[in-house]
Amino acid sequence: MSSAKERLQDINSTIAPTPTESASSTAPMSVPIDNEIKGKLALVTGASGGIGAACARDLWANGASLALTYNTNKEPLDQLVSELEQQSGSEGRRISKHKCDVGYEAELNKLYAELTQQHGQGADILVVNAGYGKRVSSILDISIEEWDYTVNVNLRSSFVLTKLAMPHMLAKEWGRVVYISSIAAGGTSINGCHYSASKAGVQGLSKNLAAKMGKSGITFNDVAPAMITETGMIKDEEALKGTPGDVKNIPVGRSGRPQECANAVTMLCRTGYMTGQSLLLSGGLK
Ligand SMILES: NC(=O)c1ccc[n+]([C@@H]2O[C@H](COP(=O)([O-])OP(=O)(O)OC[C@H]3O[C@@H](n4cnc5c(N)ncnc54)[C@H](OP(=O)(O)O)[C@@H]3O)[C@@H](O)[C@H]2O)c1
Repeated sequence: MSSAKERLQDINSTIAPTPTESASSTAPMSVPIDNEIKGKLALVTGASGGIGAACARDLWANGASLALTYNTNKEPLDQLVSELEQQSGSEGRRISKHKCDVGYEAELNKLYAELTQQHGQGADILVVNAGYGKRVSSILDISIEEWDYTVNVNLRSSFVLTKLAMPHMLAKEWGRVVYISSIAAGGTSINGCHYSASKAGVQGLSKNLAAKMGKSGITFNDVAPAMITETGMIKDEEALKGTPGDVKNIPVGRSGRPQECANAVTMLCRTGYMTGQSLLLSGGLK
C-alpha cells in the first residue's frame, strides 16, 4: 500500500497537470460517490460540552461508531455514553472515551494511538469541536498569554488533529472533516480579536485543504455557529443581554440550540459534493 504522502502526491499530480499533457489524458479520476455514515468511525472532540454532545448523539443516531473526548468534565461524557449505549440499534457499534487536552500535541498523538488501539482504525469522520473562548472584548485587555492559549487550543490543535487524521482517510479515499468555527471569524463577536482570529484561521485551514484535496474523497467544511445556548460557553439568553448577540439583535428572535449545529454537521458528513464551505448558523445575525 502506498504511504499517505505518496497518495497525496498522486492526488496533487492530478490537480496540477504539467502544461505538456493534453486535457483528456489528465482528466482526474474522482472517487466513487459514497455518502453513507453508517458503520463509519466519528471522532468528536469536546463531546463533554453542549455542541459536541449534540453532534455525538446525531452521528450515533445515524449509525456511526464514536470516539469522544473530554478535557476537564468527565461526568457529562459518562452520562452521554451511557444514554447512547442504552439505545436500541447500538449492537456491533462502539463508543470510546478519551481524556485529551487538545492544547498539547503529545495528548493529540496519544488520542490517535488510543483510537487505533480501541477501534483498530483511525477516524473516518473528524468533528473538530473542542474550543476555548474567554470573553475578553477589548484588545487592551487581551494578554499575549491569552492570545497564545486561544490560538493554540482553537487553531493549532485543528491543524494537528487534521494531520493525524489524514493517513487513514487517504488510504480509505473517504473522509469528512468538519470544524466548528464561529460567526466571530467574520468579525461579529461577543468575544475579542484573539477568538475571532483563531476561528478565522480554522476557516482558512478548511478552505485550503478543500481546494488542495478535492479529489481525495475527503471533504473539509466548517459550521460557524452564533449564540448557541445550553452550552458551557453560553448558558442561556440571559447571558447574551446587552451584547451584540442579544436575542433582540437576532433576526429569528431567539438563540440557537446545539441540536441545530449537529443537524448541519451530519448533513455535511452525508454530502460529499459539499467541500470548502462555511455554514453560518446564526439565526440571520450577520
Ligand atoms: N456556544 C456558542 O454560541 C458557540 C458559538 C460559536 C462557536 N462555538 C464553538 O463551539 C465549540 C463547542 O463549544 P460549546 O458552545 O459547546 O461550549 P462548551 O459546552 O463549553 O464546550 C466546549 C468543549 O470544548 C472542550 N475544551 C475546551 N478547552 C479544551 C482543551 N484545551 N482541550 C480539550 N477540550 C477542550 C470542553 O471540554 P471540558 O468541558 O471537558 O473541559 C468542552 O467539551 C467551540 O469550539 C466553540 O468555540 C460555540
